[in-house]
Amino acid sequence: MSEQVTEMPIASPPNGFLWGAATSAYQIEGSPLADGAGPSIWHRFAHMPGRVLNGDTGDIACDHYRRWREDVALMASLGLNAYRFSVAWARVLPEGTGRVNQAGLDFYRHLVDALLEQGIEPMLTLYHWDLPEALDARGGWTSDASPEWFADYARILFRALGDRVRLWITLNEPWVVTSGGYLYGDLAPGHRSLSEAPVVAHNLLRAHAAAFTTGRAEGIGNIGLAVNLEPQYPASRAPEDLAATARRDAFINRWFLDPVFLGTYPSELDGIFGAAWPDRTRSALDALRAPPDFIGVNYYSRSVVREDPTDWPVKAGRVRREGRPHTAIGWEIYPRGLTDILVWLKERYGNPPLYITENGAAFEDPPAVDGRIHDRARVAYLRAHLLAAARALRRGVDLRGYFAWSLLDNFEWSYGYSKRFGLVQVDLATQQRLLKDSALAYRDLILRCRERP
Ligand code: FCB
Repeated sequence: MSEQVTEMPIASPPNGFLWGAATSAYQIEGSPLADGAGPSIWHRFAHMPGRVLNGDTGDIACDHYRRWREDVALMASLGLNAYRFSVAWARVLPEGTGRVNQAGLDFYRHLVDALLEQGIEPMLTLYHWDLPEALDARGGWTSDASPEWFADYARILFRALGDRVRLWITLNEPWVVTSGGYLYGDLAPGHRSLSEAPVVAHNLLRAHAAAFTTGRAEGIGNIGLAVNLEPQYPASRAPEDLAATARRDAFINRWFLDPVFLGTYPSELDGIFGAAWPDRTRSALDALRAPPDFIGVNYYSRSVVREDPTDWPVKAGRVRREGRPHTAIGWEIYPRGLTDILVWLKERYGNPPLYITENGAAFEDPPAVDGRIHDRARVAYLRAHLLAAARALRRGVDLRGYFAWSLLDNFEWSYGYSKRFGLVQVDLATQQRLLKDSALAYRDLILRCRERP
């Protein structure tokens, strides 16, 4: 990476700044039913014809369930001092509640111990979308009981690993769980329902609060929430576009943060969901107020917004910015949006501690030449976003770490293996790992930053 980048984080990184990479269980582990694990909604969904591109599944994925030692060594070779991963609920509780599967718990205990041995701080996400199938059969996140299921599961993990894991995340991207899983239906469990979405969102917020309270009772100090944030900019100054921008901002950025920090839902949601938006009592809203110890920010892109009556149900369309660079998934590359959203978080919610828990890009990587993959586009993406993060630091944002998405090329949900976000290439046929140039550049940057007194 250029001099510019290496100077970036040095200008102001707080002591103990975390340099990490992130993954999630279903996307990398494979062996989803091994050693007594129960099926998850993603296991079922991926096996339904037509749901995932090319019929890809997480049956093997990166085979991390068997190759985790090798992967921890890889992380150490990159100089990472942190790693964000998720626990598969159904490995620990095959039926979602009740009976604990010790083998599942042991897998994560061994992983955590290996990380700690290498001086790599584990950041554990309790829920990254893979609900046990048995709980889906009981209503999944639409069930009133789901917050209790989640808190009971969280307690098991807090007790098993609370002495070694310092950084916890309750939910990954509750907005995506709600919208992808229950509103639009492109992600598991694949429902398309205007009335379920607000109920699910509310239950996820209750689940976060319940796990948070449980964690505190168990003496756990650092419990965060990871949200996908995407700054919204109006396509014009026309009042309709400004209103559409506010609606989309409420829908994506404020739906989950306003309740946990402010104890309110954004007023725009009522208009978006109409009769499907349930009235909540003051006490029901107060119960959602559980300001996390930190916010995990997953940042990929921005939106430029125009009123669009065909956009269901928000009526706020995303305008494609022709002429601007986009990733292979079609997301505009807009590093400034990262600075903007971090500063917005600071100003709106009282300067909470932040980690960038995901940031990265899918590109069509060039083939390896002499054992090297020159993924220049990804190197440039990383560089630009790290500079954007540095700008936020200079503006007083309490940023404590950066996790690249992703350590490995992996199962990108409904895109299957067609979209590659890894710093490390995984050959799906041989499971061979190969560091891309982006991994080497990140390693150099980390080493130079960590060497500084
Ligand atoms: C985020 C997910 C993560 C990955 C990236 C590309 O929404 O949290 O699992 O799929 O997008």
